[in-house]
Amino acid sequence: MTEENVLEALKNVTYPGFTKDIVTFGFVKDIQIIDEKNITLTIDITSSADEVKSQINTEATAQMNKLGFEHVGINIVAPTPPKQVSNSVSGKNIAPHVKSFVMVSSGKGGVGKSTTSVNLAVAMAMQGKKVGLLDADIYGPNIPRMMGVDGIKPEIQGNKLQPLKAYGVEIMSMGSIMEEGAALLWRGSMIMKAIEQFLRDILWSDLDVLVIDMPPGTGDAQLTLAQSVPVTAGITVTTPQEVSLDDSRRSLSMFQKLHIPTAGIIENMSGFICPTCDTESDIFGMGTTEAVAKEYDTEVVARIPIEPAIRIGGDTGMPVTYHKPDSETAKRYQEAARNLLVFIDKVNAEGRADNSAVQPTTPPGVSACSTSAAAAKPAPAKTEGESCGTGCGCH
Ligand SMILES: Nc1ncnc2c1ncn2[C@@H]1O[C@H](COP(=O)(O)OP(=O)(O)OP(=O)(O)O)[C@@H](O)[C@H]1O
Ligand SMILES: [Mg+2]
Repeated sequence: MTEENVLEALKNVTYPGFTKDIVTFGFVKDIQIIDEKNITLTIDITSSADEVKSQINTEATAQMNKLGFEHVGINIVAPTPPKQVSNSVSGKNIAPHVKSFVMVSSGKGGVGKSTTSVNLAVAMAMQGKKVGLLDADIYGPNIPRMMGVDGIKPEIQGNKLQPLKAYGVEIMSMGSIMEEGAALLWRGSMIMKAIEQFLRDILWSDLDVLVIDMPPGTGDAQLTLAQSVPVTAGITVTTPQEVSLDDSRRSLSMFQKLHIPTAGIIENMSGFICPTCDTESDIFGMGTTEAVAKEYDTEVVARIPIEPAIRIGGDTGMPVTYHKPDSETAKRYQEAARNLLVFIDKVNAEGRADNSAVQPTTPPGVSACSTSAAAAKPAPAKTEGESCGTGCGCH
């Protein structure tokens, strides 16, 4: 009996709630075959839930028994469950029925945030999660078109709105509420109100994950979101060119200042998959993002090539992940979604999503100011009407 045989058998143990097994996730850390009848395993998991531990214990023991081991010692290493914290330090959550929040951000526009948000949300729904997709890009809402629900108006129930639904994902967007083509001049205080209403006044179900597609940059929308709900995971989307990487540093630095756990970087438009010859070629450079990820102690969670099917999927409201599930791109989005779910699980188990450090210090009714510096070091309270250089409600 070899370690390979043992690993092969453990591949039959799927991680509870996921389709991948504990070996593929890399959770099996140590195998000690003492003799034909005795074995000890160390399995390092990301969840602190007792059900997860006991299911893995039972299934792994059964697999080892099948191999002939009679005495199976399983040491499951799990994060310590989060301590019960009092409200005064646990921060603010105006959408408590949503388990986890994912902020999809980028330093600059047009790098593929909305495309990433759509495909990650669809992938997680296909993996059995209850997923919502909030288009917080109030300036240029694209999600309705990309999800094929443009022109559909949400139903009103009382003074709340029912989210739209497509591909198993609940959706809300400013584009579904405003008249088509209408432009609003957004003041900081209006941005705050819009983001808060999206979280409070939409009848989201009890979601596992709400994916939030942000406007480009690091401004009022990002700060308001971080102050309103404890964001579980931040994802930065970038393209591989150096100029884009400079912007993605800003986005990663914003996560740090807003105390948002960083899930990683998605390198979009990384290489080109030629639809007729099925080969991949380097256009903007590939793999340049790795160094930036290291700088910010995070990782590149996916490299998504330029593929015409992605753009067509976006334009026609038929996301590639759902409509071309066998394509290379769909597989990469599915993989990124799986890894994101593991990351979320870990952050929740460790109780790391906490926005208490970024609460505004301004009095009620006065908008918090918008610069990321303001988030890092809260500005002194201002009274309404007082002039200020930067920040929402000040222009
Ligand atoms: N990997 C890709 N391959 C091909 N086309 C892509 C890819 N990623 C994005 N696109 C296309 O590029 C355009 C811009 O993408 P997208 O709208 O997702 O960017 P964005 O960062 O959300 O932009 P904005 O900052 O304006 O909101 C879209 O037409 C989209 O379909
Ligand atoms: Mg967008």
